[in-house]
Amino acid sequence: MSDLDGLVSRALAAFSAAGDAASLENEKARFRADLSAFQKTLGSLPAEDRKAAGAAFNGAKQKIEAALEARRVELADAKLSARLAEDALDVTLPPRGRGRGGVHPVVRTWQRIEAIWRSIGFDVADGPEIETDWYNFTALNNPENHPARSMQDTFYVDLKDKDGLPLLLRTHTSPMQVRYARMHKPPIKVIALGRTYRVDSDATHSPMFHQVEGLWIDEHISFADLKGVYTEFLRRFFESDDLAVRFRPSFFPFTEPSAEIDMKLKGRWLEISGSGQVHPQVVKNFGLDPEKYIGFAFGSGLERLTMLRYGIDDLRLFFDGDLRFLEQFS
Ligand code: PHE
Repeated sequence: MSDLDGLVSRALAAFSAAGDAASLENEKARFRADLSAFQKTLGSLPAEDRKAAGAAFNGAKQKIEAALEARRVELADAKLSARLAEDALDVTLPPRGRGRGGVHPVVRTWQRIEAIWRSIGFDVADGPEIETDWYNFTALNNPENHPARSMQDTFYVDLKDKDGLPLLLRTHTSPMQVRYARMHKPPIKVIALGRTYRVDSDATHSPMFHQVEGLWIDEHISFADLKGVYTEFLRRFFESDDLAVRFRPSFFPFTEPSAEIDMKLKGRWLEISGSGQVHPQVVKNFGLDPEKYIGFAFGSGLERLTMLRYGIDDLRLFFDGDLRFLEQFS
């Protein structure tokens, strides 16, 4: 019997010494062999001892199997924990410097414009960048084939609208006057900001740029009201109470009379916006009676406003994505 006890304790020691599954299985094979060798000796025992010896053998075998299984589980657990530890992500480490994001200067202008016009009582709307010919031109009193259309060199899209005319990238935010006025009842006070597109590229023009459109429709307003609110806007935008502003006669197909709005900066007059009284034909296209309603509109470039506010002389800087430039605004 002591042979059997010795076998059990050697097996238990060997199993717990096995450091991984492979060496554990080797030990198992070794002790299985010892056990069966021992089992064979049972047959040669005298009959009266055989029963007790058999029971002792079975007990020893069970102990060894149980120890083997327990060690298997232990090793598997240890292996899993080791892998988990290896894969663990130390979330307490600070990230590698990725730099702090900032608001793009043109978007800053966008937010500023919205805040100022909202405080003057204007609603803010937006609309599609891909427009129909009708909204972008015809409804705004640019007849088909009229030379005034060439004031705005247009990107056309390879898709046609229901009139069979090619869709286009809006050349200005003015189609929003038409869309908004056809959906709302006067009095209307709204601005619409967004991207606009023209085939144009140099230090002061980019094929994609931003405009803000303003539309004010009511029964008893005059050019003086437009002058008042726009001057107020510019003074607040440029944070200058005595900013000089002038309205200079001009031409747009959809306003009559029309005016360029200029402001004085460092002794020079700079053009900042188009504006005018909405043409009666356009008021009709809004679905309104031009005998009853009078409208005023303006359209200003956001890049232009941003350049003047910060003293930037090349518009392409906005779109180069050069962090040395952009970081100055964050
Ligand atoms: N849409 C005109 C442009 O882009 C500007 C404008 C808007 C003029 C509203 C008058 C009234 O040039």
